[in-house]
This record gives sequence, C-alpha cells and structure tokens, in this order.
Amino acid sequence: MSTFDPLTGVADRPGFREGLRGALQRSQRAGAQVALVLINLDAFQAINDLHGQDCGDALLREIARRLQHLARASELVARLGADEFGIVCEQVAAPTDLAALAERIMGAVRTPVEVGEVTITVTASIGIAATSDAGAGDSSDELLRFAKTAMQAARQAGGDGWQFFNPQMHERALHRMDLAHGLQLALEREELAPRFQPIVEAGSGRIVGAELLLRWFPQQGEISPVEFIPIAEASGSVIAIGAWVFRQACLAERDWHRRWGETAPYVSVNVSVRQLDDPALADVFADILRDTGADPDRLLLEITESMLMVDIDAKLRVLDQLAGMGLRMAMDDFGTGYSSLAQLARLPVDVLKIDRSFIQDIAESGESRAVVEAVVGLGRALGLKLVAEGVETAAQQLELCGYGCDLIQGYYFYRPMPADQMVEAVERQTALVEPSKATGLYFLLYVSEAVAPLSPQQLDQLLHRTRANNARAGITGCLLYENGRFMQMLEGERGAVLETFERIRNNHMHAGVRVVMKAPARRRIFTHWSMLLPDDTAARRDGPDFHGWQAQPMEFDVLAEDARVCYAFITACVPDVKH
Ligand SMILES: Cc1cc2nc3c(=O)[nH]c(=O)nc-3n(C[C@H](O)[C@H](O)[C@H](O)COP(=O)(O)O)c2cc1C
Repeated sequence: MSTFDPLTGVADRPGFREGLRGALQRSQRAGAQVALVLINLDAFQAINDLHGQDCGDALLREIARRLQHLARASELVARLGADEFGIVCEQVAAPTDLAALAERIMGAVRTPVEVGEVTITVTASIGIAATSDAGAGDSSDELLRFAKTAMQAARQAGGDGWQFFNPQMHERALHRMDLAHGLQLALEREELAPRFQPIVEAGSGRIVGAELLLRWFPQQGEISPVEFIPIAEASGSVIAIGAWVFRQACLAERDWHRRWGETAPYVSVNVSVRQLDDPALADVFADILRDTGADPDRLLLEITESMLMVDIDAKLRVLDQLAGMGLRMAMDDFGTGYSSLAQLARLPVDVLKIDRSFIQDIAESGESRAVVEAVVGLGRALGLKLVAEGVETAAQQLELCGYGCDLIQGYYFYRPMPADQMVEAVERQTALVEPSKATGLYFLLYVSEAVAPLSPQQLDQLLHRTRANNARAGITGCLLYENGRFMQMLEGERGAVLETFERIRNNHMHAGVRVVMKAPARRRIFTHWSMLLPDDTAARRDGPDFHGWQAQPMEFDVLAEDARVCYAFITACVPDVKH
C-alpha cells in the first residue's frame, strides 16, 4: 500500500521507498536502468521566515503539482522532507534524458508562484544518481545517498542547478570532511596567519587602511580561503577562528597606532553570518577589545550583503550591539545582494564596498559603469564612505576617481602581504612625503616614438614589468602613450632615475628618445608610478584641454618644444597633483 504526503498529495517517504524498491526489482529483471532525481528548494527556510508557514505550505503544494505534471506516468513523484522532493525514473535510456528532465524541473520550479498578495520565486538544487553509477549497485539506500551527494554539490555550486553523481564527487565530499577536521585543529597547530591588503586613497594612492585576510598553511601546503572558509562556516569552526582573527586585527591596530599615531591605517576584518548568529559574539569581541586595548573606532567589521537577507531583525540586534561598542561597519560585496534602500538605512553601516565584479567590467561595460556610478551616488547620499574592491588597472583607478569613489583596494596598488611588509609599505610612504628624508631627489622628463604601435597586451606587459621595477627602485612618475608617442616623467634618487632611464633609452620598442628636462627636485609631484593610455577618458577630463585653441590635438613631440608646457602637461595628467 502506497502512502501519501497529506500536505501535497504526492507520495511520502515510505511510499517513495516502496516505489523505489519495486522499480529496482523490475529494472533488474529487464536489465534496464533506474535513476533517482532529488530536488531540494534553495533558501526555503528564508521564505517561511519572511512570509509565514502558510505561504511556505502553499508554495510546496504548487511545486508538487508542477512536478507531478511534468513527470511521466511511469515516474514516481514524492515529498521526502520539508523542502525536498524525489522522482524515481524507470527505463532510463541515456543521461541526456535525465539532464533534460532536470532542466524541465528547474524551469517549473523557477516559474513564480502567486500566493495571495505575494509572488514568490524559488530555485532548486538537483542531484541525480543512476544504477549505472560505479558502486551504486541496486540498493535503494545507496542510490538515495548518491543522489543526495550530487544534490549537495549542486547547492555548493550556488544552487539553481543540477549535478550528476560521480566518483570524483564522492572524493570531493571526503576531502571536505578532511579539511573540516583539519580546520578544527588549525588554531592549536598555529597554521593560520593573517595577511593585510592595503586600502588606499583613490586619488593619491596613500595607504589609509588594510583588510585582514586569513590564510591557512596546513602541513600538506596552503589551502585557498575560497575553499576553507565555506567549510569553516558549515562546520562551525568559524566561531573560534573568527574570534582569533578579530584578536589579530586588534593587535595590528594597537601596533600601528603605536607606530604612526592618528595617521595609522585602520583595520578591516570580515565577520561571517555564522558569527552573527552566535549570541555570545558581542561579549567575546568586547573581551578582546578590553584585553588588547585596541581602539574600536579604528576597526571596521565587514559584513556581506547577502547574509543579512535571512532573519535580519536578529542580526540587526547583534550589529547594533557591536556598533554600540564603537566598532565601525562596512557592507561588503555591495551590489550583489538584494538589500533595499530601506534595509540599508536601518543598518549601522559607515562604509560600502563595491563588489569586484562591477569594477572588473568598468572599462568595457556601460552597465557596470552605471551600477558603480549609482552605488557611489547612493553611498554619498547616505553619508557613507565608498571602497572599490578588486582594482587592477590604471584605467579602473581613473574611472573610479572620476566618479568620486573615496578608497580603492586591489592588485593595482597592493597584494595581500604579511604584517612586517605592511609596516614597511607604510614606512616607505611616510618617507616619500616627508621632504626632509627625500634629499638627493631628481626628476627626468622625456618624449619618444614607438617603433610600431603597441598592442593592449604589450602595454599591459610593460605596465606590469615597470611597476615592479619602479617600486623596487623607489621611482614615482607617470608614462603617457598616445598616437604612437611616449612621454614619461621619472622621479626618485638621482642614481636610480638615471640608471632606469638608461634602461628605458636602450629599449628597442621606441626610438628618438629626447630628454626634455632633468634636474634636482625639492619634492615629488607623483605619489606613485602609473601609466595612462589615450582611452583613459577620466584622465582627459582632468588633463589640460588644448582643443579650444588647437584644431588638432597636440602631439607629444610638439609639446616637448617648450619644456615648461611639457612639464605642465604631464604633471596635470594625474588627478592627485599637489601644486
Ligand atoms: C616607453 C617605455 C617606458 C619604460 N619605462 C620603464 C620604467 O619606468 N621603469 C622600468 O624599469 N622600465 C621601463 N621600461 C622598460 C625598460 O626599457 C626595460 O625593458 C626594463 O626596465 C628591463 O627590465 P628587466 O631588467 O626586468 O627585464 C620602459 C620601456 C619603454 C619602451
């Protein structure tokens, strides 16, 4: 006798087991395949929390109806748990049939459901296992377990997708268990280490803060945070690790404050959703603040937008407690979640971090530019500071400066580094801007002609190589490339400038190298080294505009006729020039 789920009318778990056993027996006799498709709704709990259980029940009934509708008569549809359904398919011919079924299921689940006044859209993570899967045999338990593993893999890949079970997937599950175990011992074994990625002023490149990023170095070699952080979250070890990370941030704040006083960079640290769910969090952080004597005003807690979507009221209480202790907050990955303006205004947030995905496309995609411009505008209207993440090129930096974005973080300026290197970077910066320490300063300005037009790849290579060289040699300045001509200014110790210039002069990519000016300098004009290309529209905006009196844009060699004009041109090309 089959049994049914009273809520949805499809088979219940015992009915499903009975149906699956029968299907396996029949398939064995016929030498055919049986497949099991497991369907788990993504974020169903959030819907229940948000709209109430009645609404959740209505949604389940509708999903069950749709699944029943798209299944063939020979296929058994069942509800296996709160938000989990299964379909048993007999006489499966090929995996492609199953993939097509999975696609149809995804489409059916994704179609919005109207419940009273509200429209709900859900997605599903789907796992598929078939009797042909190695080792699956024909036991129903095994098939169910394998389908579940596949479903979990689909969920880990972000949900709204389907995944077949296969042995590699099984291996991955075992590997994750190993890592979860290793993470529990990582603190004790002192395998965790903080790294700091400087956050700089968008215009000047001056370091004003740093994000603490966690690294894990177990015996078998470094494991990427992309891999271990989700495992730490899922296994709960993130609570203990998170407290350790916060302590490291406090210790860094103390150390930097002692070194550089009020001009010391602030420290930004990530807080995970699991930590916010911990009722003891505020007390633990308060103890650490007291222990270390760190200044909460110089500590920024980064929370991600998406984690506030579930149970926002409880999380708000914790965030308010933390803000009440004087800690500052940043909304991380802003733009990727769905927080409404009203929600944002309720949060005790001081900083918005614009997600790297928008920054990456900023040069090519008008849509990304529009998002960034809108987010900057929104942040300003709410009186928040803006930090752009993942800035990797000069073009992105200039674009962001143009929008009025305050701060920048990314490889273009600095990669994450150990604490001692971070201290060195700030020390170097202090030395650069202090005139007393900058004796023997020299600058050189030249123009030249490219032997052949440079491709974007060549320009990129040039940028990368020279940036590393110049950082080592303590050289700042700027290289312009337009209409096949170069103009460059080098600033630094006399020996370093002349030696670098010799190497530049000998480069076969250009010819006709003409020195326009070289002389001792009292101070640096540029705080870092950069390269500007003709399509850097933001630079054009800020640069001198000769078009009013000159029908043709001026070529660099014409500008070079008058050293003073040339000097004025290049020093005006960077928005952070201090006259
Ligand atoms: C227009 C132009 C500008 C350059 N600017 C620099 C520079 O500022 N710093 C630098 O080290 N190399 C610069 N180079 C590259 C040097 O000519 C040379 O290839 C490089 O310094 C050698 O680096 P390596 O010893 O790491 O191979 C430039 C080359 C060209 C064509």
